[in-house]
Amino acid sequence: MKLFIDSGNIKDIEAAAALGIIDGVTTNPSLLAKEPGDYRQNLKRICQIVKGPVSGEVTATDTSGMLQQGHDIASIDEHMVVKVPLTRDGIKACKALSGEGIRVNVTLCFSAAQALLAAKAGATFISPFVGRLDDVGTNGMDLIREIVEIYGNYDFSTEILVASCRHPIHVIEAARLGADIATCPPAVVDQMFNHPLTNIGLEKFLKDWEKAQAVKA
Ligand code: G3P
Repeated sequence: MKLFIDSGNIKDIEAAAALGIIDGVTTNPSLLAKEPGDYRQNLKRICQIVKGPVSGEVTATDTSGMLQQGHDIASIDEHMVVKVPLTRDGIKACKALSGEGIRVNVTLCFSAAQALLAAKAGATFISPFVGRLDDVGTNGMDLIREIVEIYGNYDFSTEILVASCRHPIHVIEAARLGADIATCPPAVVDQMFNHPLTNIGLEKFLKDWEKAQAVKA
C-alpha cells in the first residue's frame, strides 16, 4: 500500500521523505493556509522533495473556475494532481480534466454512491474521509470496505486514497481491506513506528552486547 503525507509543511515533508517510505503528499486549502509564503512555490518545493503525486486543491466552486484553477495547479509541476470536491461541479471538472490527461483527486467523499460517481468521471484518486465519519459516529472503514468491493466489481482504475486518517489503526484497516493508498498527518506516520517491545528488545540486545564486550576487554 502506498503511504502519503497529509501536510503542507515543508519541514514535516522533508523529515517524512527522509524516512524513505513516503510515496506522495496530499494538501488541502486549510493545510496550505497554515504555511507561510506563496502556495504555488510551496507546492513546487513539495514536488521536488517527494517526486511522487502531490495533490493541490481548487478553491473555486463552479466548474469553469475549477478548470481554470485546475490547469494552473497542473502547470506547477509534472507531479501535481488536481484535487476537486465531490460536488456536481467537481464531477464535471473531473470529467473534463481527466479527459485532458490531467490526474484528478476527488475529495470530501463520504458515501459509496459518491465514490461511484468519481470513478465514472475518470478520477485518478478518490479520497474518502474516514476520521470525519468516525467523528459523527459512523464507522469510516465500512465506507472503505464498500468502495473496495464496488471498484473491484467493475475494474475501475480509480485508486482508493484513504484520507482523514487519525491513528495507525486507520492505516492498518485500510491495508487489510486492500485500499491503494493511505494519507496521514506526520504524527500518525510517527506513531506507526512505535512499539514498546521494540524499544525493550533493542535495549536488552545492546546491554548484553556491551556487557560481553566489557568481559572480553
Ligand atoms: O486531506 C484531508 C484531510 O486533511 C482531512 O483530515 O483530520 O482534517 O479530517 P482531518
